[in-house]
Amino acid sequence: MIFRIYTLFPEFFHSPSRSGLMGKAVESGIIKFEIIDIRNYSEDKFRRCDDYPYGGGSGMVLTPSPLFEAIEANEKGGSCILYTSPSGTPLTQELVKELGNLSEISLICGHYEGIDQRIIERFVHKEVSIGDYVLSGGEYAALVITDAVARYVPGFMSNKDSLVEESFESDLLEYPHYTRPYDFKGMCVPEVLIEGDHKKIAQWRHEKKVEKTKGVRPDLYKKYLMRLILGE
Ligand code: ADE
Repeated sequence: MIFRIYTLFPEFFHSPSRSGLMGKAVESGIIKFEIIDIRNYSEDKFRRCDDYPYGGGSGMVLTPSPLFEAIEANEKGGSCILYTSPSGTPLTQELVKELGNLSEISLICGHYEGIDQRIIERFVHKEVSIGDYVLSGGEYAALVITDAVARYVPGFMSNKDSLVEESFESDLLEYPHYTRPYDFKGMCVPEVLIEGDHKKIAQWRHEKKVEKTKGVRPDLYKKYLMRLILGE
């Protein structure tokens, strides 16, 4: 999987692409990061890439020319081009899974008030938001997207099961986990987990998933109930 990232801050990706599972995946060659510094395509003598918005208003906008040149120089066709923006389609596990089937994803990291709309219209396949809050730069969102998607690349995860038994699968959040010691400062592991009855454990975990989802994500819980009613 190639992640091609258009950014004003290439150094932002140095540590994340070299750490943990992502670092291993990059080393083994199953993930490749191509970091494109947008400023390298600026014709301004100070390498500026922003300007005032037409029509007035606060903030600055990324000018189209450096982005246009950067994209034209680096895209060979075949990549899915995403633009990280709070106005985008919300990133869900479903979308992450879809993106995980691709072999090449390009991410344009927005800054200031955003990028010139003509770049979006010309190149972008999908605007993606990682949540209903505003970040200081699209790099944070790009990191979230690359990490979530990379988990679906064959060979990235050591334990395949963990992709199945996790939050959002069948619209439920995950059950609580415990490890040794059994008694930690007087707080003991639920008995059902040490009794060895796997049917009971599965039942307990399912109940915990439902309880948690109902408590913290009523929207997901509703979806789960609907699916139950429809027999899906
Ligand atoms: N850029 C700024 N805020 C963002 C968000 N919530 N998601 C994606 N990109 C962003």
